[in-house]
Formats: sequence, C-alpha cells, structure tokens
Amino acid sequence: MSSMAAVLAVVFIASLSLPTHLHAQESLPPALADKIGLDFFRTGLNPTKSDRILPSWVPPKATPCRDYAGIVCNHDSIVTGIHLSNADLAGYINVPFALSHLSRLDTLDVSHNRIAGPIPDFSPILTLQVLNLSYNGFSGSIPDDYFSGVKTLKVIWLSYNRFTGEIPSSLSELDGLTELRLEGNKFSGKIPASIASPTLKSFNVSHNSLTGKVPEGLEKFKASAFEGNKGLSGEFGKTGKAVEAAVVEEEKKKKEEEEGSWGLPVALGMGVIIVGLVALLVIVRRIKAARTFSSLNSENHQEGTGSAAVRQQNSAYA
Ligand SMILES: *[C@@H]1O[C@H](CO)[C@@H](O)[C@H](O)[C@H]1NC(C)=O
Ligand SMILES: *[C@@H]1O[C@H](CO)[C@@H](O)[C@H](O)[C@H]1NC(C)=O
Repeated sequence: MSSMAAVLAVVFIASLSLPTHLHAQESLPPALADKIGLDFFRTGLNPTKSDRILPSWVPPKATPCRDYAGIVCNHDSIVTGIHLSNADLAGYINVPFALSHLSRLDTLDVSHNRIAGPIPDFSPILTLQVLNLSYNGFSGSIPDDYFSGVKTLKVIWLSYNRFTGEIPSSLSELDGLTELRLEGNKFSGKIPASIASPTLKSFNVSHNSLTGKVPEGLEKFKASAFEGNKGLSGEFGKTGKAVEAAVVEEEKKKKEEEEGSWGLPVALGMGVIIVGLVALLVIVRRIKAARTFSSLNSENHQEGTGSAAVRQQNSAYA
C-alpha cells in the first residue's frame, strides 16, 4: 500500500513537471516514450491476484513490444494497441500523463474489468480509433462536447457501465464513426438526431432510460438495438414483442380499411335495394288501393243503377 502511494506520489510530481500535451516523439525515442507512458498508465490500475497481464509489465528492463502482455506494436516497434480485456483490473485510467506519450496508439480495450470513475479525457491521444470501455464501473455524465476532442474515433463501446445524462450530440462530429455501443447504461433524454449517419454500421442503445422518438436514419437498426427503454417510441423504439404487436395492429387496421372500402359500396347497394323495396311496396299499395277504390266505385255504380231501376220501377207504378 505504501509502495503504491510512493509510486502515485512520483507520478504526481512527474505529472506536475510535464506539459500536458507532451508529444513524446519530439523529445524522446518513441519506444522509450511508449514505455514511460505504459508505466504511468499501469500505476492507475490496481491489478488483483488473478491478473495475468500487468505483472509482465513490471520488470524494469522489460520492453513493451517484446515483453508486455496485452500490447500490440507496429513494424517499427511502436505501440499501437493496448488490449487489457478481462484482466481483473480495478482503479482508474491515467490520461493524459500516461497515454499522451503513446504517439501511435489506435486501440484501447480495457473491457470487462472493474475500472471506475468518470470517462477519462482521451483528447491527448491524437490517433485513437477504437475505444472499448465496456463492462466496467465508469459513471457520471459525458460532457456534450466531449467527442469534439477525439474526432479520430471510429469504434466506441461504452456498454454496460453506469453512465448517466444525455447522449452527447458531439458524436455527430465523428466523420468515420462505424460502431456506437451504449447499451446497459443509464443514459436519458432523447437520442440526438444528428448522430444518424450513413457510415454507422453498428448501433445499440438498448437498456437505458431514453425517451422520445427514434430519429430517422437510425430506424434501420433492429428493434433489439432500442429495447429496454420505456420512454422510446417510433417504429423500432419498442421491444421485439411490441414491434410484433404493432405490426399485427397495423395489419388489422389495413384489413379494416379494406373492409371499410368494401363497406361503402355494399352499404350503398343495400341502401339502393331498401329504397327500391320501399318504392315497390308503395307502388304495390297504391295499385291495391286504386283497385279497391275502383271496385268500390263500380259496386256503388251498380247500386246506383239498381236504385235507378227501382226508381224506374217505382215511377212505373206511380
Ligand atoms: C469490446 O469489448 C467487449 C467485451 O470484452 C467485446 O465483446 C467486444 O468485441 C469489444 N469490441 C471491440 C470493438 O473491441
Ligand atoms: C443490443 O444489445 C442488447 C443487449 O446487449 C442485445 O440483446 C441485442 O441483441 C443488441 N442488438 C443489436 C441490434 O445490436
């Protein structure tokens, strides 16, 4: 514990004397700068007993590209990747004093550890393309302009941490963004419409607390990319089941509309038939009435002639 404190004190003092954006290659051989950077970086992390990566970084004569586990280098023996996934690491990520030394770092994967704290400021790493912080204990909100400082990023995995607040709109400034994985956090508010871009190939914001409508351009992603956000709406802003239900509902509506479009002529036809029937009834009644009237009339006439005959008879007797 006291040795850890001593190391931290040394790092702290060193950091005070170093300019924040020191570009190591300007003053130090790149391989040495990489080593200094990685050794700084290591001091922030607390390896546990089961960690099999960081112990290989300890011997003072070790060279990163040759001896350090989890390190990827290019042909010039310059560090390009740090891969510390599943290493049972705790602690925090030490930037910029550490990682700004790594002049060619393009990939940082510390996924599946127990690293905590707010999102580190990665802007001193001018070459970073792939950032994987998934499955850790990172928390807090990410400033809205955060990604303006890391425009080289193409692949961002922040899934399964405890990030809160809104999804930063500055993500739209990343021209080359192909993957954005934010699932399993506590992001809230609306999904910024500006982050829908044609280059985006993989996108997942499931299991957050997002609200509002899924922006156009993101609807191409599967429903499972949006599930688990109670406040999200839109064609794919629902769980798979809800989408199925919505599809069934829509088909039902269509059917009803079709039936509705059949219904009008049918109703009209029925109306015509009813009117016709009523008219027929009226006509039949009129004919009947006319007949009764005329037969009554003729009976009267006969009676009349009869009485005339009687009268004639009477007059004959008279
Ligand atoms: C990020 O880390 C997760 C968990 O280790 C892994 O499944 C995923 O493939 C990684 N993605 C990238 C782009 O490194
Ligand atoms: C999104 O993430 C969730 C949770 O990890 C997963 O179940 C789902 O399959 C993912 N969907 C897509 C489209 O990536």
